[in-house]
Amino acid sequence: MENDSLKKIISHCKAFGFVFQSSEIYDGLSAVYDYGPLGSELKNNLKSYWWKAMVHLEQNIVGLDSAIFMDPKTWEASGHVDAFNDPLIDNKDSKKRYRADVLVEEYLLKIESKINKEISKGKKRFGDSFDENEFKSTNPRVLKYSKKHQEISNRLGEMLSSNDLKGLAELINELEINDPVSGTSNWTDVKQFNLMFSTEVGSNTENTKKLYLRPETAQGIFVNFLNVINSTRSKIPFGIAQIGKAFRNEIIARQFIFRMREFEQMEMQFFVQPGTELEWYDKWKEQRLKWHKSLGLGNDLYRFHDHKNLAHYANAACDIEFKFPMGFKELEGIHSRTDFDLIKHQEKSKKKILYFDQKSGESYVPYVVETSIGLDRLFLSVLATSYKEEALADGSNRTFLKIPFEIAPVKCAVLPLNAKDGLPEKAKDIFDIIRFKFNCQLDIKDSIGKRYRRQDAIGTPLCVTVDYDSLKDNSVTVRNRDDMSQERISIDNIISFIDDRTSIINLLKNFS
Ligand code: GAP
Repeated sequence: MENDSLKKIISHCKAFGFVFQSSEIYDGLSAVYDYGPLGSELKNNLKSYWWKAMVHLEQNIVGLDSAIFMDPKTWEASGHVDAFNDPLIDNKDSKKRYRADVLVEEYLLKIESKINKEISKGKKRFGDSFDENEFKSTNPRVLKYSKKHQEISNRLGEMLSSNDLKGLAELINELEINDPVSGTSNWTDVKQFNLMFSTEVGSNTENTKKLYLRPETAQGIFVNFLNVINSTRSKIPFGIAQIGKAFRNEIIARQFIFRMREFEQMEMQFFVQPGTELEWYDKWKEQRLKWHKSLGLGNDLYRFHDHKNLAHYANAACDIEFKFPMGFKELEGIHSRTDFDLIKHQEKSKKKILYFDQKSGESYVPYVVETSIGLDRLFLSVLATSYKEEALADGSNRTFLKIPFEIAPVKCAVLPLNAKDGLPEKAKDIFDIIRFKFNCQLDIKDSIGKRYRRQDAIGTPLCVTVDYDSLKDNSVTVRNRDDMSQERISIDNIISFIDDRTSIINLLKNFS
C-alpha cells in the first residue's frame, strides 16, 4: 500500500517519463520498473556523481565492471546458497505469502503510531509548555506501549539471528496478527525462502550448469581482488568500486522503486590491514554521510541506524537511513566485513588471496569495509524530496521538481517568446551552441506560461527566453525554476552562466 504522497510521486513519474512499470501493456511485472527518458538521465547523473566522488576524487579507489553471471561456486563460498533467505509464512485462507519478520515489524509500527497519537494528544493538552521527552518518560500509556515495543523487537531480533522459525510463528500467533486479506490467523509454519534467481547455461542436457543472477555486486569485486592488485599495483589501504544490477526474489513487492526484484547497486569494497578496519569503518561512515548531505536535499533527512544484531561475518555495521514518504528507511549500508569473503573464496577456489606488505615483509588476507547504496533508492530519495506543489501569488498553482540543479535531467530549456518573427530561429541558434555542453530542450509550442510549467514539472533549473530585444541586443532572459526570478544576460556568456549553476563540480567541491 502506498501513502498519498508516494502515490502522487508515482503518478508524476509516469506522466513525465521518469519511471514506468515494467511490461505495463501486459498489466505490469510486479516489483520491476523501467526508467523513462528523464528517469534515465537523472539516474545517469546520480551514477556519475557517485563515480566521480568515489573513483575520480579518491586517489586510492579504482573502478570495476564485473559480469552479472559468475561461477556458481561464488555463491556457495559467499554463503548466499545456504543462507540468503527470508522467513516466509502463508495464510491458508487467502493463499497469500508474507515475510514473517515484516508482519511483526508492521505490528511494531502500529504500536509506534499509538505512541505518536498519545504524544499529539499531550501536545494539544499542554500547548507551549509541552516537553516531549518528559511526557515520553512519565505518561503511563506511552510507557506501557514503549515497554511492549521493546520486548517484541528484542524477541524478533533474537529469533532472526538464531534462525528460530518456530519461535517466529509462535510470536505471530501470540500477537494475534491476522492476514490483511482474509482477516484470519490461519497460518502455516514459517519456512526459509532463498532470494536468488537462477537460470541455466549449456548447449545440451549433459553439460548444463545452474547459474545465479547476482544478488549483490560485491562478490564480483572480491573474486577480482588479485586481478586488480596485479594490474594496478594498488597498495593497501585501497578500494574497488562498481555500479551494476543486482537481483533478488523479494516477496514483498511494494513501495514503488524502494524494493525491487531487479535493482542497481553502487558498492565499494575497501581493503585494509587487519586490526585497522574499525578506524576505516568510522571514516567511511562519516564520508558517506557527508556525500549524501552534499546533494543538498536537507541534512535532517538522514540518520544512522547502527546494527545491534550483526551478521556472523561482520564486526560492525550500520545503515544510513533516509526520510522517505513511508518514514525513515535504509538507503545505504556500511559494513565491516572482516576477511570473511576473501577467506571463503580462498578456500573454495583453492587459490591464495594474499596481500604482500612490502614495509613489514608479511603477507595477509586483507579485511574489508564495504559501502553499498541502492541507486533506485537514491533516485526515490531525490524525487520524493524534490516534488513540490506551490500556490502562486496570482492564485494559480504550480507543481515543480526542486531537483538539485547539478543532477537535474535537463539543465536548460530555450524558449522563444513567440513562434514567429524570427524568434524560433534565434532560439535554435542558441540551442545549437549549448546542446554540445548541456542536456537541454528547445520548446516552441504553446504559451510561454504553459512552457514554463512544463519545464517546472520536469525540474529544469533554467529557462532561457528569447524575445524581440534578443534580436537587437544579443541578450536573453534567464528564469530560475525555484524562485522564478529573471535576469538578463548576454548570449555570449550563456555557457558559463549555465555551467556555473549546474556543473556537478559544484557538488564535488561541497563534498571534498
Ligand atoms: N553487498 C551488501 C549488500 O548487498 P544490502 O544491505 O543487502 O547489502 C545494499 O544492500 C543496498 O542495496 C541497500 O542499502 C539498498 O539501498 C539496496 N537494496 C537492497 N535490496 C534492494 C531491493 N530489493 N530493491 C532496491 N534496492 C535494494
